[in-house]
Parts: sequence; structure tokens; C-alpha cells
Amino acid sequence: MVGQPEIRTQRLVLRRPRLRDAPRIASLLNNYEVTKNLARVPYPYTMNMALDWLLRQKREWSPEAVTFAICEKRAGLIGFCGTHREGQFAEIGYWLGQPYWGQGYMSEAVRATIAWYFASSGSNRLISGVFHFNGASLAIQNKLGFVTTGIGTRICLAQHAEIEHIETEVTRGAFFAAIAAQDGQTPAP
Ligand SMILES: CC(C)(COP(=O)(O)OP(=O)(O)OC[C@H]1O[C@@H](n2cnc3c(N)ncnc32)[C@H](O)[C@@H]1OP(=O)(O)O)[C@@H](O)C(=O)NCCC(=O)NCCS
Repeated sequence: MVGQPEIRTQRLVLRRPRLRDAPRIASLLNNYEVTKNLARVPYPYTMNMALDWLLRQKREWSPEAVTFAICEKRAGLIGFCGTHREGQFAEIGYWLGQPYWGQGYMSEAVRATIAWYFASSGSNRLISGVFHFNGASLAIQNKLGFVTTGIGTRICLAQHAEIEHIETEVTRGAFFAAIAAQDGQTPAP
């Protein structure tokens, strides 16, 4: 099995998670402002939960099932993004520690992850979604060519509630057109 690749962007390195990331994950994720936006992360969030999650990460990876620790040069680990299978498609999810919000980090990380996904997978589609109140996450997705495909509900463990969820997807063509527009280029035919 080939090792999981690293993705490098201008400011970030996206790498495989390590067991020693547990204390950092626990400190960034034990924050309701972060976990209230995520479906499957409880609050409060403990060191044991981080360790348990890391131990369950498999060595095997594929474009449809991969986890990247997002690392910034000075701060080190600042968040995560990754894909998992959801029905017939892969779904992308992500979170960033609150001290690092509002600096374009997740736009950079998600763009690079999706570019890698379409380069590595035969699939022409990637799905995602946001809880209805998550304007920042929806803005990131809209900039990258995602469109809304429906409104559903998802359980949010941190909120102990079923919350309205905006379902989204991006196609290969829409993604590359969106990033070409960001870069001021014409997309390849
Ligand atoms: C949502 C989250 C990923 C955003 O990360 P970030 O690095 O701060 O995002 P960026 O700075 O790259 O981009 C945010 C964009 O949303 C915009 N934005 C911020 N708040 C917004 C709001 N309330 N409504 C609409 N747009 C908003 C910003 O202006 C920015 O757009 P721009 O680049 O065009 O200016 C981060 O806040 C986070 O991890 N939150 C907790 C977990 C989470 O929500 N995960 C996603 C679950 S779907």
C-alpha cells in the first residue's frame, strides 16, 4: 500500500494524522463553537475521544476515504479535512480550530483537497453539506462550484438535536471552472 500523500499549498501542509496529534485535537475540538457545526463530534470533547478516533484511523486510504491533518508552518495542526463514503458518493467534511478562522485557511485546504480528489479518483462528483446556520462553510463551497441539491436533516451530536442540513455537491467540471475563475483563467475544455 502506497503511503498517504501529502498535499502542499501556499501556507499549509495536509498530512496523515498521527497518534501524537491527540492533545492538539482535543484542545481545538473541545469548543462548542466548532462542534455545533459538525454532525458526529460530541461536546464536551476529551483527550480519550481524540485518541480513540486516531486509533480507528486506518492505514489504508483512497480518494473516497482519507483524512488529512491541516498544518500551518508556525501554528502546527490547525484543523482537519477529509472524505468518506456516503451512499454512492464520497462526501467531504472539514473543521478548523477557532483561533484560525477568517484567514482563508479552509478555502485553501478544501480547494487543494478537492483538486487532489478529482486528480486521484475516477468520480466526477463530490458531495457535502452544511447545517442551515453555517454561512461561512456554505460560502467556501459556493466559491468552489458547489450547488445546493436539497434540504434534509442530520443529527448533531454536540447539539443533541436533529438539525436542518443543506445538502450540496460539486461536479468535476464546476470545480475546475470555479477555480479557473478564481485564478482569472479560462477552464480547459
Ligand atoms: C466554517 C469554517 C471551516 C470556515 O473556515 P475559515 O478558514 O474561517 O474560512 P475561510 O476564511 O477560508 O472562508 C470563509 C468564507 O466565508 C465567508 N463568511 C464568513 N462568515 C460568513 C457568514 N456568516 N455568512 C456568509 N459568509 C461568511 C468569509 O467572508 C469567507 O469568504 P471570502 O473568502 O469570500 O471572504 C470554520 O469556521 C470552521 O471550521 N468552523 C467550525 C466547523 C465547521 O463549521 N465545519 C464545516 C462543517 S460543514
